[in-house]
Amino acid sequence: MSKAKQLTPERSPLMIKEDMTVIRHEELANDICLLVLKGELVTHASPGQFVHVRVSEKGMAMPLLRRPISISDIDLEQMTMSIIYRVEGEGTRRLAKQKVGEIVDVLGPLGQGFETSHLTSGDNVLIVGGGVGVPPLYYLSQTLVQQGCKVTHVLGYQTKNHSFLVHSFETLGETHVTTVDGSLGTQGFVTNVIDRWPLEQWDSLFACGPTPMLKALEERFLDHSNAFLSLEERMGCGIGACFACVCQTPSEQPYDYRKVCTDGPVFRVGEVIL
Ligand code: FES
Repeated sequence: MSKAKQLTPERSPLMIKEDMTVIRHEELANDICLLVLKGELVTHASPGQFVHVRVSEKGMAMPLLRRPISISDIDLEQMTMSIIYRVEGEGTRRLAKQKVGEIVDVLGPLGQGFETSHLTSGDNVLIVGGGVGVPPLYYLSQTLVQQGCKVTHVLGYQTKNHSFLVHSFETLGETHVTTVDGSLGTQGFVTNVIDRWPLEQWDSLFACGPTPMLKALEERFLDHSNAFLSLEERMGCGIGACFACVCQTPSEQPYDYRKVCTDGPVFRVGEVIL
């Protein structure tokens, strides 16, 4: 009998709560871990969505029960999903102790992912990631390559020791790396690379990373009709309950807001105030 239990969520029609099995669990970079999980949930996920992972033992009230983590890869043949997270706090420290063969309680897929239906074969797509915002872009980039798009990646990390997935992105398309200290790739920020190119050459932009990086991209792509930002750093409970993720919109309406977890995490540039 299936372990997966179908739920009726606020927005996503295919959300499942499932006990998934740990297939692989390893450290990729400084405090950055890759967790590969097997289960039925993988068949419903699309690029840009995330899962809500239980990080406390069953029956324990604290620490906060779940953490939102973006999906970085799906293997439908193996029925596995890769998620990559930063170890920072009691919850993720507990998660980092999970061993191969153990069970992890996962809810998802959640949120509204990246819109790619406007793109066709041969389109030029810029993909920009910063730090722990890089993982969901890998699943996206694979999907775009399958659609026939030409992808260019710009990935920003603090240092070489914080970098991960670079070789995986290189297999999909042109890949540029920046590090704050210059220990890998170009010294500085993603914009140091992006500003070398005319913005008009991009049919679409997709980005995920820290808010200052997204703001810098918003300044450059505000008039672009197909620029999308994933705001996953702004997430709290992940399921629409805590209001920690609420963003104002530029509208004059006083109560016009969006929840990052259920209306996003992906928004068009300019749709919400960063
Ligand atoms: Fe709690 Fe969105 S993260 S309502």
